[in-house]
Amino acid sequence: MSQAVGVKRIDILIEGATIISPGLGGSDEKMAVVDEGAIAIDGERIAYAGPSPAPLEFRNARKRIDASCLIALAGFVNTHTHAAMTLLRGYADDMVLMDWLNKKIWPIEAHLDSEDVYWGAMLACVEMIRAGVTTFADQYFFMDDTAKAVRDSGIRACLSRGLIATSPDSSQALRENIELCQTWDGAANGRITTMLGPHAPYTCPVDFLEKVMEAAEELGVGMHIHLSETLGEVEESRAKHGGMSPIELMDSIGLFGFRTLAAHCVHVSAKDIEILSSKGVGVAHNPGSNMKIASGVAPVPAMLRAGVKVGLGTDGACSNNNLDLLEEARLAAFLHKVANNDPTVIPAEQALTMATLGGAKAMGMDSDIGSLEPGKKADIILLDMNKPHMYPKHDLTSHIVYSARASDVTTVIINGELVMEDGVLTGIDEQEVLQTAEERAKALVRKA
Ligand code: NI
Repeated sequence: MSQAVGVKRIDILIEGATIISPGLGGSDEKMAVVDEGAIAIDGERIAYAGPSPAPLEFRNARKRIDASCLIALAGFVNTHTHAAMTLLRGYADDMVLMDWLNKKIWPIEAHLDSEDVYWGAMLACVEMIRAGVTTFADQYFFMDDTAKAVRDSGIRACLSRGLIATSPDSSQALRENIELCQTWDGAANGRITTMLGPHAPYTCPVDFLEKVMEAAEELGVGMHIHLSETLGEVEESRAKHGGMSPIELMDSIGLFGFRTLAAHCVHVSAKDIEILSSKGVGVAHNPGSNMKIASGVAPVPAMLRAGVKVGLGTDGACSNNNLDLLEEARLAAFLHKVANNDPTVIPAEQALTMATLGGAKAMGMDSDIGSLEPGKKADIILLDMNKPHMYPKHDLTSHIVYSARASDVTTVIINGELVMEDGVLTGIDEQEVLQTAEERAKALVRKA
């Protein structure tokens, strides 16, 4: 095509894709489907998303991508994980939660060093990019090294240092979390944001949480916390705190005055749901982890009806055991259908919304990510629909949730950069990541 003289040169033009996105010409709840679509990317942001051909002003592109036979979606948002736990994938399965933590996970984590965390997080980033995850929320330790992996891999993440007040180094851990926020917030061209990471109410007493809230106030950051994951934790809270659930307790101390991302929320009452909704708390629903550890079934349909911002998460790779958010979308749809004995619960469209815009809202990032709308950051994935399991094309939204696989993702753009093109990671030596992670994981097990 001839280059129009005097028209601004944009960076990337995707042509011919079937665009499926909430928000685009419709409501946040409704998926818009544009059959012959075009997306123009200017710098870090989407300049145009709509019918092809794009308006003349967006056609002079440095790079053009022919996306006929491809579906364009907003990148998936993994709202809860512990990235470096990829090193422990398959190390301890099929155990009771407290045995699993006390006998296997915590003893081996005591031997982890910063290099391990870097390579474990790199493995996680490679796995997530391949699965179309463009943003994740993380809570772990040696977070400088996770931040370096995010920087080096090209993915987007919101990072927090896990804080356990009952451990002897809790003051040091809080200092590290504060330094993480000071050093990394806005780094890697804005791809890295930060939060404080009080692990859970049962590991962080109120006096410690008050210190965390003071720091949050000073730094202007939010919280990433585990809430009401198991029934035992809720019963213990009610016994210790005058009948209050963990969510009521957090509300009573003012934690929800800060932007909060709450992982799990499995055992929640009607009153808890009302608090989560009225305080705008984001919920990270982890159906795979909740099923594998037998934590229970979060009342997600009730939360969504009450207007709670629910996104999806994988949790760490040793309670899942992968970081495939598309699988979580399918598990969420299936789990709540069988749990409610109602196949109309969590239809495909709602599951896909939770995997994208719902997650962005839960993380307080929906002004920048979660849908393919002009002005938003260009976090875009392309899926190959020329696969046997994608035919016939009755309903592509249904196909994405019920039939597509992570391996259908061919191309990933994050912050306007091509991070994976036609199945090849552009900035990472993938074999080096896989081999180094394998070596470090084997050495770790020898130390335990
Ligand atoms: Ni977790």
